[in-house]
Amino acid sequence: MSETLLLIGLQWGDEGKGKIIDVLSERYDMVIRFQGGANAGHTVQIGSEEFVLHLVPSGILRPNTTCIVGNGVVVDPKGLLEEISGLKQRGVHVGDNLVVSNRAHVVLPHHKLLDRGKESARGSSRIGTTGMGIGPCYADKAARCGIRFAEMMDPDQFRSRLSALLEMQNPVLSKVYGFEPLDCDAVYEEYRGYAQQLSPFVRDSLPLVHNALDNDKNILLEGAQGSLLDLDFGTYPFVTSSSVIAGASAGSGIPPTRIDRVLGLAKAYCSRVGTGPFPTEQSGQIGERIRDTIQRAGGREYGATTGRQRRCGWLDGVALRHTTRLSGARSIAVSVLDVLGAFETIKICVGYRLDGSVTKSFPASAAVLEQVEPVYEEMEGWRCEVGEITDFADLPRAARDYLRRLEEICAARVEFVSVGPHRTQVIERKAND
Ligand code: GDP
Ligand code: IMO
Ligand code: MG
Repeated sequence: MSETLLLIGLQWGDEGKGKIIDVLSERYDMVIRFQGGANAGHTVQIGSEEFVLHLVPSGILRPNTTCIVGNGVVVDPKGLLEEISGLKQRGVHVGDNLVVSNRAHVVLPHHKLLDRGKESARGSSRIGTTGMGIGPCYADKAARCGIRFAEMMDPDQFRSRLSALLEMQNPVLSKVYGFEPLDCDAVYEEYRGYAQQLSPFVRDSLPLVHNALDNDKNILLEGAQGSLLDLDFGTYPFVTSSSVIAGASAGSGIPPTRIDRVLGLAKAYCSRVGTGPFPTEQSGQIGERIRDTIQRAGGREYGATTGRQRRCGWLDGVALRHTTRLSGARSIAVSVLDVLGAFETIKICVGYRLDGSVTKSFPASAAVLEQVEPVYEEMEGWRCEVGEITDFADLPRAARDYLRRLEEICAARVEFVSVGPHRTQVIERKAND
């Protein structure tokens, strides 16, 4: 039976989505990215090769999978061209297996400048964005002055839309943020060049997607970022500018009724890159140990897009329960379980203490979240490596107990466990495990 499966990161991004999409895409005909942009960095490791995908869906490494950059994605054409050529140089086939929706919005030079300008203006309350122009591009989209690929592909429309847009944004760039105004002709020429090079990939993706649905194809929706970065439900304003949880339908053209299942993905601990509240953060030795251990296992707790060191800490069960509920995931995949093998005991946050009482609900305000004190439960560690294990039943008892505790907290079944960065290091749990 065919299936449309939505994979959503349940934390602050970097849960290992690239790896899980790569593993799953073997069974799916189509992989669609539906939100975010080149702020994403999805790592896939195959043998000794490591690929980091930013805009191209992580299904591209499977020769028979059609990959779609959906209408909800904001696309930097230069970055996309570089990504395509980097993949081709490494022998990956990128041709008619990649489609970019002509409804996707184009990230333009002023978006990146505004991203930088706004961040420096925020000073100590900066978000720590990736600098990829994501927020300003979505802002133009919502303000109905953005430019989509459909417009960029048409020289006359592109010139008039770009000129109107820059007439509006140039004074902001120069007067508010102190940048040189952009030269419309120069941007036009540069982006016309990108449009020509990308023309084999750009088209209306809807007929393809609906045809796949009509023909009972298996479709995988590849979420980017994580639910705690969701524009509505994350730690606002320290979030990204797209709907990480509910954006799948709006950003792909797949009707909500045709999404069969949601698979949530959580790390066995938490990480965050950028600023904003992180109640279970361990800025001292424990955080260091997490970063060192993953590095030794061939993974990374440094941003796949920006190279920034990721903040690390214990698993936040309050946040995980909040996002699992919102995502509707009944099944979850747990990644980097191997890293916790380095610890004698492991903590899980099961409540927040605030003003003398304990709550299990996730506060709306980032300022409140900054003040909560995590209430921890401590569990026994398994103190061994699990990277070679392929059967759930062979995991150490303490590791299974930890996963069962996660299941209780978020009321979802652990369906996959990732025990290392490589494609092969994944345990698919059987129905009777
Ligand atoms: P994504 O953005 O969700 O795709 O995640 P990233 O690629 O940004 O970050 C995940 C990092 O952890 C990458 O370096 C992966 O290679 C690595 N990784 C993924 N799953 C595992 C795992 O189960 N164990 C270990 N040790 N590393 C993993
Ligand atoms: P993947 O898909 C981790 C974070 C940034 C910043 C905030 C806003 O690899 O999981 P933005 O550039 O989107 O305006 O930045 O969101 N952020 C991510 N953190 N993983 C990501 O993507 C992220 N994409 C954005 O660090 O805190
Ligand atoms: Mg990432």
